[in-house]
Amino acid sequence: MSRTLRREQSSKGAEQQPSEGNARLDNLTLARKEGWRSFVKAPTRAQPEPLSTADLRRLGEDALADYNRQRRVWHANLGPIKTPQLAELHEDLWDIVDSNAQDGDKAKGAIAIDAFPGLGKTTSVLSFAKQFHLREIAEEGEFTEEGHERWPVCRVGMTGNTGMKDFNRAMLEYFAHPGRTTGTTAQFAHRALDCMLSCAARVLIVDELHFLRWRAKSGVEISNHFKYIANEFPVTLVFIGVGLAERGLFSEGDSYTNAVLAQTGRRTTRLDMRPFTIDADKGRREWRQMLLAIEQRLVLAEKVPGMLADELSDYLFARSTGHIGSLMTLINRGCQRAVRTRTEYLSQDLLDKVKNDDAAETARRELEAALASRRITTRSQRKSG
Ligand SMILES: Nc1ncnc2c1ncn2[C@@H]1O[C@H](COP(=O)(O)OP(=O)(O)O)[C@@H](O)[C@H]1O
Ligand SMILES: [Mg+2]
Repeated sequence: MSRTLRREQSSKGAEQQPSEGNARLDNLTLARKEGWRSFVKAPTRAQPEPLSTADLRRLGEDALADYNRQRRVWHANLGPIKTPQLAELHEDLWDIVDSNAQDGDKAKGAIAIDAFPGLGKTTSVLSFAKQFHLREIAEEGEFTEEGHERWPVCRVGMTGNTGMKDFNRAMLEYFAHPGRTTGTTAQFAHRALDCMLSCAARVLIVDELHFLRWRAKSGVEISNHFKYIANEFPVTLVFIGVGLAERGLFSEGDSYTNAVLAQTGRRTTRLDMRPFTIDADKGRREWRQMLLAIEQRLVLAEKVPGMLADELSDYLFARSTGHIGSLMTLINRGCQRAVRTRTEYLSQDLLDKVKNDDAAETARRELEAALASRRITTRSQRKSG
């Protein structure tokens, strides 16, 4: 018996080789078009086969180690789950990006996704961009009419204190342009424009925009630069960041600075990413759906239906305050511990030992008090699902 399972396991392991390539993908990799391609082409991971505790006992040492390794990678990469937030954002992105396909020199509408960290902005935009890339390639082909490689999406990520020149250079880095080392800000911008035109780029994602150096004076410079990109580049700009409104990306006003910034603002559609909330029944149902979706993905031998959605609903909400990033961190770490300690089940006891990020922990204490006194609940009032 153990032989059979073992053989099955290792042949499964071999099948999974290519998909495990994407375990090594990080943000740095996405800074280059080749990294973007591996992200887009990475096959969906296969969920490890569910085994019972009795099955686990029958596995030989090596087969168990192999099975647990598969589960480590699997639990560390659950998702993206199609949450209502992700689905809504995708609909808005399709609307705006596709309506920007108008001909001629009409300035394109930009998009700004402005929300707190850990709400799934990056995850949702990347999964949209992946679908967009695949659709464009399927419809238009791998190469442009002039015979250049087609790159429908360009993605750049800002890091601490990025200036305008670094931003332009990052676009050249993405395309591995030979002229990315020397030149002026304006030359970099022209080269980037050349790349986007020849590769038929349609979407330019600027992630972590809040890291861009942003002072009163440079605010005008930045605004003008993005206006230039929106006017001249054939792309829809998708900004992602935290506190963009407060930084004046959309402000309108009477000062010169505000007037210039408003030019960006008027063409920019602001999209939000909301946390899960439990103050109305609709929100409570969404929370439950989310927990059920996660539950289905977990590969733990002692898992039972309702392990998350019934037993831990209040607890998980308190610990994550409805932030998907905190929730997924907690679940991922909990699963690692459940496998390692052979508990094979997520309980409050086990999760209590798992650390979560700081912001979530502070908010947790207040929420737990409110939930304990039954002032609020995550449970839907109506009987459903
Ligand atoms: N739809 C989703 N399904 C599963 N996990 C998600 C989803 N959205 C976000 N996450 C998890 O939450 C974490 C934070 O998401 P991220 O997109 O980086 O947020 P933001 O860009 O808003 O800071 C990610 O590491 C990911 O694991
Ligand atoms: Mg992000």
